[in-house]
Amino acid sequence: MFLRVTIILQTLALFASPITAGLLLSTPHGRTLHSVAAYGVFTVTLLHLIAAILVWRPGGGSPRPIAYAAGFFGLTLAQIALGIAQVTTLHVPLGALLFGLSVLQLSRVPAWRRAHVAPVSS
Ligand code: HEM
Repeated sequence: MFLRVTIILQTLALFASPITAGLLLSTPHGRTLHSVAAYGVFTVTLLHLIAAILVWRPGGGSPRPIAYAAGFFGLTLAQIALGIAQVTTLHVPLGALLFGLSVLQLSRVPAWRRAHVAPVSS
């Protein structure tokens, strides 16, 4: 449940990023708004990584969600560096890629209800 919530928040934060990027290009306060959105993405991707570590049961569960969350966090750090360095030719497509990957991650995390349904015994 906690893992799913953090991925939903991550996807919403990434959805807001191109909107604030549009404001950055068209309004005086847009840069501040895009920076706030960037802090938001940073925070929720870090929360996602922490959640993936916390829900992992050593010896029982697959560590794959931790690898995905860590990779995603690494891409987010690269995205922030590219934004600050104003490398827009890489920054804009990476932003779109991050959103797509986040939607994909969301579709792969089993819903809390489905994950907690007891198996039917025969
Ligand atoms: C599709 C989504 C995104 C688009 C279209 C976009 C676009 C832009 C543009 C046009 C700039 C200005 C570059 C310049 O000054 O030449 C920028 C800066 C920046 N972006 Fe994004 N961005 C997106 C997503 C993100 C995300 C997801 C993050 C953070 C994880 C981020 C972090 C930053 C940062 C830190 C800056 C520098 C802001 C500053 O100089 O004050 N961006 N972005």
